[in-house]
Amino acid sequence: MKTPSRAELDKLSFDELIVLASELAEEDEEIKKVRRYFIDEFCQRVPAKAVAPGDLAEGEFMGASLDGRPILLAKVQGEIVALSNKCPHRGFPLHHNGKLDGYTITCAYHGGQFDIRTGACLRHPTETYPCERFQAHTAADGTIVCETFKEKA
Ligand code: FES
Repeated sequence: MKTPSRAELDKLSFDELIVLASELAEEDEEIKKVRRYFIDEFCQRVPAKAVAPGDLAEGEFMGASLDGRPILLAKVQGEIVALSNKCPHRGFPLHHNGKLDGYTITCAYHGGQFDIRTGACLRHPTETYPCERFQAHTAADGTIVCETFKEKA
């Protein structure tokens, strides 16, 4: 796909954004120019739909938009865990072609790795940042809601 201008990017379908996401990983110089606004656009367009714990099988993960926040939801050992879906390195959506191995999520863009229970950075391309984590719980209507994580006293 030819590197789109900002105006062209606004007109791309979500499926076209997914194609562009794959091409971003190739680090083409032209692609780098659109990276920041592509990432914002991609996160904003992840469908805001309710997610129930049963929507995820064991070891599965997905990108979600909950209360306008890009969230990565995963089910490991029967528990739903939630992190920001924006990789702390360059903001790439972690769910897009990411890999989950046990409690480690690997970002498809530069291979950054994070512990999905704590957000701790386990491997990083250039800098170490933890990934923001959220407390996920099931609301009365059976859907997953996330809150900013509050450390236990
Ligand atoms: S954007 Fe995730 S490792 Fe670079």
